[in-house]
Amino acid sequence: MISKFHPHLKCIVHHAVNACLAPVCSLHHCAVITVDGIGTVASRLHPVQRIAKAHGSQCGFCTPGMVMSMYTLLRNNPEPSMVDIEEAFQGNLCRCTGYRPILEGYKTFAKKSACCGGRGRGKGCCMANNCNEEDISMYDPSKFIPLDPTQEVIFPPELLNLGKQPPRQMKFKGERVLWIQPSTLTELLDLKSHYPESKLVVGNTEVGMPMKFKNLLYPVILAPAYISELNSVQHTKQGIVFGAACTLTLLGEVLRDAVAKLPTYQTEVFKAILEQLRWFAGKQIRNVAAIGGNIMTASPISDLNPVFMAAACKLTTMSKGTVHFFLGRSCAFIGQYFSAFKQSPRQEDDIAIVTCGMNVVFKEGSNIVEKILLSFGGMAPTTVIPKTTCKKLIGSAWNEKLLEDACASLAEEMVLPPSAPGGMVPYRRTLTLSLFFKFYLTVKHYLAVDLQHEAVPPGQSSEDFVGRPIMHLSALKQATGEAVYCDDIPCYENELHLALITSTKAHAHILSIDTGEAMTVPGVVAFVFAKDIPGSNITGPAFYDESVLAEKMVTCVGHIVGAVVADTQAHAQRAAKVVKITYDELKPIISIQVSTAVFMKSVELYEKYVNQIRLTFNPYCEIHIGGQEHFYLETNCTVAVPKGEDGEMELFVSTQTASKTQALVAKALGVPANRIVCRVKRMGGGFGGKESRSIILSTVVAVAAMKRPVRCMLDRDEDMLVTGGRHPFLGRYKVGYMTSGKIIALDVTFYANAGNSKDLSFSIVERALFHMENSYNIPHVCGTGYMCKTNLPSNTAFRGFGGPQGMMVAESWMSDVALACGIPSYEVRRMNLYNEGDLTPFNQRLEQFTIGKCWEECLDISNYMKRQGAVEEFNRQHRWTKRGLSIIPTKFGISFTSVFLNQAGALVHIYTDGSVLLTHGGTEMGQGLHTKMVQVASRALGIPCSKIFISETSTNTVANTSPTAASASSDLNGMAVYNACQTLLQRLEPYKVKNPKGSWEDWVNAAYFDRVNLSANGFYNNSGRAFNYFSYGVSCSEVEIDCLTGRQKVCSDMWTSGAFMQGLGLFTLEELHYSPQGSLLTRGPGMYKIPAFGDIPVELQVSLLRDSPNDKAIFSSKVLGEPPLFMAASVFYAIKDAITAARSESGLSGPFRLDSPATSERIRNACEDRFTKLCPPAEPGTYTPWAVRV
Ligand SMILES: Cc1cc2nc3c(=O)[nH]c(=O)nc-3n(C[C@H](O)[C@H](O)[C@H](O)COP(=O)(O)OP(=O)(O)OC[C@H]3O[C@@H](n4cnc5c(N)ncnc54)[C@H](O)[C@@H]3O)c2cc1C
Ligand code: FES
Repeated sequence: MISKFHPHLKCIVHHAVNACLAPVCSLHHCAVITVDGIGTVASRLHPVQRIAKAHGSQCGFCTPGMVMSMYTLLRNNPEPSMVDIEEAFQGNLCRCTGYRPILEGYKTFAKKSACCGGRGRGKGCCMANNCNEEDISMYDPSKFIPLDPTQEVIFPPELLNLGKQPPRQMKFKGERVLWIQPSTLTELLDLKSHYPESKLVVGNTEVGMPMKFKNLLYPVILAPAYISELNSVQHTKQGIVFGAACTLTLLGEVLRDAVAKLPTYQTEVFKAILEQLRWFAGKQIRNVAAIGGNIMTASPISDLNPVFMAAACKLTTMSKGTVHFFLGRSCAFIGQYFSAFKQSPRQEDDIAIVTCGMNVVFKEGSNIVEKILLSFGGMAPTTVIPKTTCKKLIGSAWNEKLLEDACASLAEEMVLPPSAPGGMVPYRRTLTLSLFFKFYLTVKHYLAVDLQHEAVPPGQSSEDFVGRPIMHLSALKQATGEAVYCDDIPCYENELHLALITSTKAHAHILSIDTGEAMTVPGVVAFVFAKDIPGSNITGPAFYDESVLAEKMVTCVGHIVGAVVADTQAHAQRAAKVVKITYDELKPIISIQVSTAVFMKSVELYEKYVNQIRLTFNPYCEIHIGGQEHFYLETNCTVAVPKGEDGEMELFVSTQTASKTQALVAKALGVPANRIVCRVKRMGGGFGGKESRSIILSTVVAVAAMKRPVRCMLDRDEDMLVTGGRHPFLGRYKVGYMTSGKIIALDVTFYANAGNSKDLSFSIVERALFHMENSYNIPHVCGTGYMCKTNLPSNTAFRGFGGPQGMMVAESWMSDVALACGIPSYEVRRMNLYNEGDLTPFNQRLEQFTIGKCWEECLDISNYMKRQGAVEEFNRQHRWTKRGLSIIPTKFGISFTSVFLNQAGALVHIYTDGSVLLTHGGTEMGQGLHTKMVQVASRALGIPCSKIFISETSTNTVANTSPTAASASSDLNGMAVYNACQTLLQRLEPYKVKNPKGSWEDWVNAAYFDRVNLSANGFYNNSGRAFNYFSYGVSCSEVEIDCLTGRQKVCSDMWTSGAFMQGLGLFTLEELHYSPQGSLLTRGPGMYKIPAFGDIPVELQVSLLRDSPNDKAIFSSKVLGEPPLFMAASVFYAIKDAITAARSESGLSGPFRLDSPATSERIRNACEDRFTKLCPPAEPGTYTPWAVRV
């Protein structure tokens, strides 16, 4: 949080900002408060750190950001509304929690708090007003420390005095940059004329990005943020004049105030700007980003420029001695209507695909257009006005004819070449028509023509969690910033930093590597290439089919060729970027190409029963399921410390796989594994991304660290570039079915885009095959899986490990059968479900099979039948908005399918003071594994959790550990912990018997003095069956889609968790774009969108099945890490259901293809109508697309 005395507003303002975009020089006169400054575990927690107790912190890597966003909000407004709270988090991301617990916890600060669950019964309690919400909270809000604004840190008086003094010019000189902060406009103009090449910077939200990612350097920067004229706001008769350095937050505040005070006809444009600001970045960006910066960037997707242009706003520019005015004059008219629209992949905090401002003025008292100005972003290199269309519409009446003329003319005028940057060409073209149609309807409504309002679904209900889990053991430290992640380990005295040198070509021979220029970068110490590896350069987690460092050939963009070590990370990265590699390029294979790209042989041909049934779908039906980036909040990080003798090395790593890291590092260093210790304290998320791909980075760092400690934490773009993600899958299937909907036979083939090495792809495709029938009993099944080798970074484990892809294909054929038979999909699904005792295609009998029970309960809780009727009624009444409903089962097999991995170890020490140090083979990545293991030990030993401590996971305490993966870690490690505790209990038993009234400490001490071993290890392995057991679930979702833009909203869902939100991202939002040359285009949160706060379903309910024991795992443990991810498929199929309704309006029926994710583009294109027909896609093969599907 930044606080400063605002010289123009004359008060202290507090802003949350993004640290990575805030130049240190811009902070002169500012007080900066970070999370460690507001409360600590040892002293006193700040009330906002209650997020820990509200279970809003899992891996904890996002938690300091959440805490500071809330803290800043409360500093500005101690009694915020829920809307204020939701707005404060627009710029924060979390990959673990699914956001609900964070919002639930912070609701307790809101003016109108959520239901108290009866605790506050009495004065003003909701219960007194017939509220029936049960007491279901997992914590007691009355125990939270209340907020007391008088106890906050004060703004330093020295800074207040400084801020009140007349401004002075300031200069800061760095290694390569001169930063000047002029104090007056004249000074600024003089400086600009003296340094014509200088760059003006206000919020740095535009300038900062290319400096970081494109290595751009501006030797002179002028910072005019404190110049009085550039911060002024003047109200005039024509409108409001804003200085160019006014922030977007200020713009919003001033306009909101004006809308409240001025007559409606004068505020049409203000309201449109406010609407754009609502979806403009997040709060942290709007707090610093200025109006001038947005205009001057002239971005094709600027959200404000189309509005300013359509409103004919006046722009004043100045240079030394001259003043210019551009554009027309903004005026408000009676009979004027103005709208702004923005369509982006994600609604909140995302850049636009198409954005626009639309302005129409009618002849007085009529519907005849007098003036019209349309302005579009996203349709050309700059914002454009379709002048011909605007001209054509003048004099026309606002009716269907005008709509038709406008659409035909826009379709002609708003063209884009098929290879246009950003892709989605037909969609963007269609959007210009669709958005105009929305404007048409809005204006028609205001012209008092009949139009129906669309109901908004009711507000969220409270959660229905069963049980009261204990707080994540590290949550408090995570909320105070005291939790130590890998990169928080203090620097060693002679430590160096490492940056990777990566390939820019997808498939090429390396001809030469020139480090000449890189050597001249200050602080550079050494380079590491393949020849420097003392042991073996060959590596791989399951198959040795890749190299640590590419030697002669590169096989993907991002292939690691070498590394630079230098005194700082900045120097290492700067040097790495100027290493010149020359290549002899070969043709890359990027996409799954069924006929040519399958050069890794079929992994499995997998048949059940006879295969003699005539299959009815011909040719094959297909679904493509896109890949997914893990987007753990903590990127990969390793610190390697040589011990100086016998080849010993200690590695601190953010990894799910300590033992594999140890083994492969030892292999590369040419030493036995017993010289390498791998230590993992905690990870800021893993999700499978650190199961194997973390090892390459650790190995490179270890090779570089043979003489001095070396550290590397990847930047987000580097991490996304080199590590790979979830496998894109192509599923092709034939299904044999009866007209009743009963399915008899299935033939399915999976093609997985494996990338440039096998990694774990074999097991992933195998798991897809194990899940190919999802929860359905299909008598005749044939399945085949292929790993397709391509020139992409190797794809790898990701929550679900191929299972979600397998089940997604299953639901695709299920949906096709329902549509082909004309039977409601829930009926077809229900009739094909397995029953207790049925055999799976791999001959495993289903025991304790609860899907039928889950199904009925889900139908009941969701009120499915009533909803179905309401959805149908809604769809009858609405042409351009449709709702869809879907119910989907999940059956997820629990075990590693590589049988040898189903083992775990634990080591338990009891010390003489009675405290217990517990170590086990699993790693903590936010899932709360350590918390659960402490619970197991606590119950097993019969002592409180507070006596038990887990410090870390390390290879010198528990050896030969399996990766923490497959959702099986609690089951496996829990049993190992339990077994170790049992051994210790047996040893203590005689002392308990001797002294039954004694305490735990008494027994421990007696045993110690009796020379009893108070350390024990435990071991566990489980059966060799395909799966130890299955985890079941059923999810129901209702969605609403905007048929004109493709925007979707999840109205209601019967499940949630972090995994569910990750599934929601996978199936509806997250899209990786690769260029045809194999370069990843989506390398950061700006381009790659994971679900944000605003994507949580409007209404959510979760219900855990009661009375469903599990005798296959410790204390009835049931895996919940991976299965809920697939529950989000119900959102996808609800969207498909809504699209089906939209298509029926155009006379289309029967099965249709919908690939995953169901993005707004895909939804819009699937809702075929007269607008889509006007914007057909270009013929494939006639152009080079901007991005290809992989
Ligand atoms: C995470 C993120 C999300 C974003 N989301 C959106 C979005 O939703 N919609 C959108 O439209 N944009 C978005 N942007 C882009 C950016 O935030 C805006 O364009 C912002 O208004 C730029 O203002 P700034 O003060 O930060 O500009 P700066 O980065 O400081 O400057 C930008 C450019 O303007 C020039 N400039 C600045 N002030 C002046 C001046 N007074 N006179 C002359 N030239 C000047 C600079 O020299 C520079 O070339 C986003 C950016 C980020 C990082
Ligand atoms: S707890 Fe939010 S990213 Fe892990």
